[in-house]
Amino acid sequence: MKEVIENPASWDAVAVAYDSGARARTEPFSTAAIAWAGLGPDADVLDVACGPGTTTLLIAPHVRSVHAVDFSPGMIEVLQAHARGAANITATIGDGQALAFTANRFAAAFSMFGLVFFPDPVAGLRELLRVVRPGGQVFISCWVPFAQSPMMQVFGEAMRIANPPDPDAPPRPPPAWDTAEQLSGGLREAGFVDVEVRKLANEQSVRDGDHFWAEASGNIAVAHLRQRKGEAWPAIEAKVLAHLRPRLHGGATLAMPGLLGRGVKPQ
Ligand SMILES: C[S@@+](CC[C@H](N)C(=O)[O-])C[C@H]1O[C@@H](n2cnc3c(N)ncnc32)[C@H](O)[C@@H]1O
Repeated sequence: MKEVIENPASWDAVAVAYDSGARARTEPFSTAAIAWAGLGPDADVLDVACGPGTTTLLIAPHVRSVHAVDFSPGMIEVLQAHARGAANITATIGDGQALAFTANRFAAAFSMFGLVFFPDPVAGLRELLRVVRPGGQVFISCWVPFAQSPMMQVFGEAMRIANPPDPDAPPRPPPAWDTAEQLSGGLREAGFVDVEVRKLANEQSVRDGDHFWAEASGNIAVAHLRQRKGEAWPAIEAKVLAHLRPRLHGGATLAMPGLLGRGVKPQ
């Protein structure tokens, strides 16, 4: 899975589906980070691992400029389609671990649900530290462990049906960060001060099983599995839907909690 996650083409393949489903699920974290940052209209900001523009599109009306960076050309293309007409948005393809910006350039930087996918997330944080000016803020986010997330638990059930775990396979490595201690530890290790992490409950509504599974197609693990299973996929999906339809009959409100961390560059 590591090779899949670290390949921009995997993200290209889900860019449109991510935009139409997952973007609305992660927006509350961008909204909370933007409110926390309290930036004025003269601020220049950076959004790394911007995806289809989740944070960029929300913050652009309130600041002077937004530079959005993602290593997936497909994600940048979707963002550009949304941003048409917004003169203060610049979107470029680039690796978040080696940013093409001079030091001390931005008032604030955001990387929402992005750094956890980097081979070296702390290297990504050090780049954010480098490009914000002294006193500038950096915001990052990650999910809590699946066991503490009702939405992720339903997703996990569906994935176990789609791809029953091999009892002999080594356990999957945990994500780089999924606790407040790890998130704040990463920020401090990279050199940030005044580090604070907040947990957001993020209640989300789901219409039904079909809606849930259609949205899941924006997840790169599902997209990768579909590609691997080839002709077997329709039968697999039928089994997944047979589980999800009664499970989510009549709709549901499911919490999808996550952590939002903020660090400040020392003066
Ligand atoms: C889960 S999406 C998050 C998108 C958006 N920030 C949001 O909150 O909805 C993760 C994004 O990280 C990007 N990404 C992963 N590794 C990257 C890297 N090394 N450099 C830049 N972008 C990367 C992916 O292309 C994808 O758009």
